[in-house]
Amino acid sequence: MNKAEVVKLILKDRPTNTKLESATAFAPTNIALIKYWGKRDCAINLPVTDSLSIALANKGATTKISLIDQAEDEYWVNEQLMAADSAFSTRLNAFLNLFRFQRYHFKVETKINIPIAAGLASSACGFAAVVKALNELFAWQLSDAELSILSRMGSGSASRSIWQGFVHWQAGIREDGMDSHGIALKATWPQLCVGLAIFNSAKKSIGSTEAMNRTVATSKLYSAWPQQVSNELAAIKSAIANHDFNALGMISEHNALSMHATMLSAWPPILYAQPETLSMMNLIWQLRDQGLPIYFTQDAGPNLKLLFEEKASDEIRLQFPNVEIIRPFTC
Ligand code: DP6
Repeated sequence: MNKAEVVKLILKDRPTNTKLESATAFAPTNIALIKYWGKRDCAINLPVTDSLSIALANKGATTKISLIDQAEDEYWVNEQLMAADSAFSTRLNAFLNLFRFQRYHFKVETKINIPIAAGLASSACGFAAVVKALNELFAWQLSDAELSILSRMGSGSASRSIWQGFVHWQAGIREDGMDSHGIALKATWPQLCVGLAIFNSAKKSIGSTEAMNRTVATSKLYSAWPQQVSNELAAIKSAIANHDFNALGMISEHNALSMHATMLSAWPPILYAQPETLSMMNLIWQLRDQGLPIYFTQDAGPNLKLLFEEKASDEIRLQFPNVEIIRPFTC
C-alpha cells in the first residue's frame, strides 16, 4: 500500500472540485508524552506502537489554501515565500501531489507560532492544518479519524494534531492503516501546564524520520521499546483519569529518556541533547529533589518541554525566566 492508495480509499465518493477559491484551518501542535518511535510500515507511516500526546491549545499552524492558475505551487510561511528547492517545499509539494485531482496548483499560506524544526512538532501541526484546510476547500466532510489518517501521510505525529487535549494514536494492525489514527480522550486537566523552554531554535541535525529508522535498524535496545510503551501507555491513561500528576510526569520523563537511550545506542549514534539540555535536566532533577513537582519531556531536538501544575507556575517562572507557559485545557 502506498500513500496515493490510502488517499484514494479515504476520498472515494468525495468531491474533487470546488466552487471555493480558498479555505483556512487551524491545527494545534502536539507534544507526545508516550512517544511514537519506529515504523512498522515506512511507506504510509504506520507506527510500531501506540502513542499519546497533549495538544498545545492555540500554539500551532493556521493555514490558508487557495487554488491558483499558475504552473507551480507557492508556499508561504509566516509571510515569507519558501524557495522551490528548499526541504520544506519539496516535502509539502510531495504531500500535495496526493491531492491534485484536476491538475490543481495551490498557494499555501501558513502562520506557525512555534519555532519550526526545533523539535516542537511544527510538521505535525503543519500537515494537519493542510488536511483540515483541504477538507474545507473541497467540502469532503471527513470524520476526524479520516482527517487523522490523511495527516499521517504527511508525518506520523500529525495524526494526533487533529484534536485539542489528550490524544491516543492507536497503532492498529491493518495493512492499509485504516485503524491507525488518533482518538481524543475525554479527560480534561485544567491545572496541567506545559512549559516551552526554547533555548535553541536551530534546525535539527538529523530529522526524526531518519533518526527513528536508524534506531529501529541498528539499536540493540530497541527490542525492549514496544513492551515499555505498552506498559507506560496503560499507566499514563490511569494517571490522566485520576489526575495523578506525579505519575504522569514520571512516566512521561522516563518514556522520553528511554527513547533517547535507544538513539544513543543506534549506530552511528544520535544525540539531540546540547550542553543547555543537560544543565536544564540537572536543574529539574535538583528542583524535584527539593520538593518542586516538575518533570520534562524531550523530542527530536535539544529543547525540553516542562510538565507541571498551575500551583508550581510562580516557582517555574522564577527558575526558568524564559519559559513560555501553555495551559492546554484553559486557553
Ligand atoms: C520524537 O512524526 O516527525 O516527536 O512520521 O517520520 O514524519 P515521521 O516522524 P515524526 O516523528 C515524531 C517523533 C517524536 C515523537 C512523537 O511525536 O511521538
